[in-house]
Amino acid sequence: MTSRQGSDGSSSARVSGSPVIDIRDVGKRYDEGPPALDGLSLEVRQGEALAVLGPSGSGKSTLLNMIAGLDRPTEGSVTVAGVRVDELSETASARYRRDRIGMVFQFFNLLDDLTVLDNVLLPAQLLGQDRSGARDRAAELLGYLGINRHAAAYPGRLSGGERQRVAVARALMNRPALLLADEPTGALDTASGAEVRQLLTDLNADGQTILLVTHDLSLAESCATRTIELVDGRITRDSRHPRAETAAGR
Ligand SMILES: Nc1ncnc2c1ncn2[C@@H]1O[C@H](COP(=O)(O)OP(=O)(O)OP(=O)(O)O)[C@@H](O)[C@H]1O
Ligand SMILES: [Mg+2]
Repeated sequence: MTSRQGSDGSSSARVSGSPVIDIRDVGKRYDEGPPALDGLSLEVRQGEALAVLGPSGSGKSTLLNMIAGLDRPTEGSVTVAGVRVDELSETASARYRRDRIGMVFQFFNLLDDLTVLDNVLLPAQLLGQDRSGARDRAAELLGYLGINRHAAAYPGRLSGGERQRVAVARALMNRPALLLADEPTGALDTASGAEVRQLLTDLNADGQTILLVTHDLSLAESCATRTIELVDGRITRDSRHPRAETAAGR
């Protein structure tokens, strides 16, 4: 990762050729009702920041769950960072989540009885990484995200925006090929939401591939370089666009 200062503040992410997500003709049907996903194909390249919009019930969370290997399609294939996610066993799927993707949720999902530093160190511990290397990585991330002064604090003492920064640091610990975020600003006040928006924008400007599900149009416009809209499990709009607000303009 380059330093925050090293970012040139431009709104154009470095998008390269290799697909991080390759979803082909994916359907998800339940016993009753219309399909949650219906013949959906999507390719996301390295360096893209993709926002997924769409009305309630349109299949956004279902799509995210397929990509995270938390659910399986009834048709089609899901390949992420070269891994056929739809074919993984439960154990292999858990390992895939730990090794290849980072996840950020609306309500942070931090462990309140661990310090900020220990929360960030968790994924490395699960990988069995050596402790000093992991501490260096955690310290680098806490510095990058501007929360190193809270390393010894417990999450309950932090603001919502700070907690979400800790969650992002934890998600980035194992250098994921893909950062998934489900309504990352959904539980935040306006100021904290703007902070997290800027953080995701900076991360993408530094090369992190991001997929975020959101109802927050301003998040999609300011952070994403591409937006898709889902309706009834199908993609009805797919547009690449410059960010509305650049890091330089903050
Ligand atoms: N376990 C399930 N069994 C049956 N139907 C389901 C199940 N999970 C989701 N669905 C249906 O699949 C469709 C898509 O749901 P999904 O949760 O992906 O929507 P969403 O776009 O994330 O909505 P929201 O914006 O409200 O979070 C909905 O019609 C939902 O009722
Ligand atoms: Mg949802």
